[in-house]
Amino acid sequence: MSQFPIYRPRRLRANENLRRLVRETALCTDDLIYPMFVVHGVDAAHEIPSMPGCFQYSVDRLVRAARTLVDLGIRGTILFGIPQYKDASGSGAYAEDGIIQQAVRAVKDAVPDLLVMTDVCLCEYTDHGHCGVVHEAEVLNDATLSLLAKAALSHARAGADVIAPSDMMDGRIGAIREALDENGYEQIPIMAYAAKYASAFYGPFREAAESAPQFGDRRSYQMDPSNSDEALREVGLDLDEGADILMVKPALSYLDVISRVKESFQVPIAAYNVSGEYAMIKAAAHNGWIDERQVALEVLTSIKRAGADIILTYFAKSVVEWLEG
Ligand code: PBG
Repeated sequence: MSQFPIYRPRRLRANENLRRLVRETALCTDDLIYPMFVVHGVDAAHEIPSMPGCFQYSVDRLVRAARTLVDLGIRGTILFGIPQYKDASGSGAYAEDGIIQQAVRAVKDAVPDLLVMTDVCLCEYTDHGHCGVVHEAEVLNDATLSLLAKAALSHARAGADVIAPSDMMDGRIGAIREALDENGYEQIPIMAYAAKYASAFYGPFREAAESAPQFGDRRSYQMDPSNSDEALREVGLDLDEGADILMVKPALSYLDVISRVKESFQVPIAAYNVSGEYAMIKAAAHNGWIDERQVALEVLTSIKRAGADIILTYFAKSVVEWLEG
């Protein structure tokens, strides 16, 4: 390439028309999935203190919120349920009339155009707050698989469009794929939380979903933030077991992982811009220290630039307004 003064990179930055013409990455509404939380009750919308602008909705209010998403042009939501009762095996996760199953039925009935994804995990439903069955302080892998498969199947029966396992047990994608296929749901895609790290950025979510572990932490099943070769192995396993979309989570501190996964596997990649990433921007903006719109768009654009095709973000509704405004 020729050098200065022949080549002057600033020439193509001179005005907005030129900048737009050569722009490599454009965030768009089609990329976004908006996560929502559902609780028992009627006409309830409890704002989550550490996630301003996000709510725990009762099913009726969730349906209204789902309509708003479609009106904005957002294609999909991912739903998290908060049950009334928790127990050791997380039975609320696979109860035919559990909170998430009710929510999926109601949303698909009233707003069929919205893609409904469901998070498959036990942590919101277990009294100990872990993502699997616990025996003597150990989170058991194989004993958890059949429960996850049951949960996934109950979501499919309720009408879920995409199943998203977030538990990080080994072999769960295969177990879920098999259960779905055996029951005639071979057309339902699996979006695997494939490289999911044991991250401190999930703090606000655990408040929102009331799912903090009651002892210990998730480091025996979620990944060590120091590792990225391991992410490729994890992702490869999930793909072999039948995952259709691979997710990296969190997003912002793992842009290198998103990029490596995208280069290694030519399948759709999702990235989860998690609760702590949202809360940091909200808090700093609230203090007047940063510009919320500009920082959020910069972060989300960087996630897409790194290689994400799909971004799960609590900013989704704001992004649509910002992109249009
Ligand atoms: C459930 C689950 C978590 C998140 C998504 N699914 C929490 C966790 O693993 O503790 C986090 C999402 C967020 O922080 O926004 N296992």
